[in-house]
Amino acid sequence: MITATLSGCGGDDGDSGSGGGDGKLVLGFSQVGAESGWRTANTKSIQESAASAGVELKFSDAQGKQENQIKAIRNFITQRVDVIAFSPVVESGWDTVLKEAKDANIPVILTDRAVDSQDTSLYKTFIGSDFVLEGKKAGEWLVKDYEGKTDPVNIVELQGTPGAAPANDRKAGFADVIKADPKFKVVASQTGQFTRTDGKQVMETFLKAQPKIDVLYAHNDDMGLGAIEAIEAAGKKPGTDIKIITVDAVKDGMTALSEGKINYIVECSPLLGPQLMDLAKKVKAGETVPQRVLTEETTFTPEQAKAVLAERKY
Ligand code: AHR
Repeated sequence: MITATLSGCGGDDGDSGSGGGDGKLVLGFSQVGAESGWRTANTKSIQESAASAGVELKFSDAQGKQENQIKAIRNFITQRVDVIAFSPVVESGWDTVLKEAKDANIPVILTDRAVDSQDTSLYKTFIGSDFVLEGKKAGEWLVKDYEGKTDPVNIVELQGTPGAAPANDRKAGFADVIKADPKFKVVASQTGQFTRTDGKQVMETFLKAQPKIDVLYAHNDDMGLGAIEAIEAAGKKPGTDIKIITVDAVKDGMTALSEGKINYIVECSPLLGPQLMDLAKKVKAGETVPQRVLTEETTFTPEQAKAVLAERKY
């Protein structure tokens, strides 16, 4: 019988855990939290894939706090799981706990998000998206959409969680592309914590503070969807009065895109579970795995969203 242990803040320190007495691979996984539709789909993918791959999953929800992730990783080390995987809340501050895992001979897989550790021997592989490229794709769409126009384009940006790889990288990739044309101006940029609630609140303040907003770039769909509520409440038409670009392509985002409330979505796939289980089995078996496993992703216009919406699984 396969177990998928769910626990709250800080990890599942209660149960026994060590290296699958029944021969199953035991994977300790520390998740960021449940901040977005993307994250919910990612958790589901990991839990379902563990079940179908015959992996015993010890799942811990960090509720958005790095300290909880560090505690969970230490618990996994104490329990002597076979492999540890985690999606780091922020990029910095992992060296000590990763060294502890290495000293205990427990391989670590980074999932979805990177760490900034200089010593790459602290983890076996990193599976996930290229967030810089995602930001670039968002910028490229904007540049194309405003091609031939000369008026200033005022952009507001909703950033993800401060210090998180997708927030840092999506900001950098986007900025890198739009800097080529001085008509693009980011007039306000603030975190919306990757959540709908904060996206809405921050957009409300942007709308009050900024006399002219042409474009909203949100680092994920959820913040964009919250912002749409704020824009509508302010009597403006999202997608028309203010153009909106987001990242993720979860079902709610794709629905808003198909309705013309969002203009463009850069996909970030949360379906990392099957590849993660495969990599965990390989590192456990001592096989060499690539240092970086990139996720395949696309982009969507409203027309493309309409065409795939019915079969969108998350
Ligand atoms: O790390 C991936 C990002 O985290 C997703 O784009 C965002 O929705 C999530 O919260």
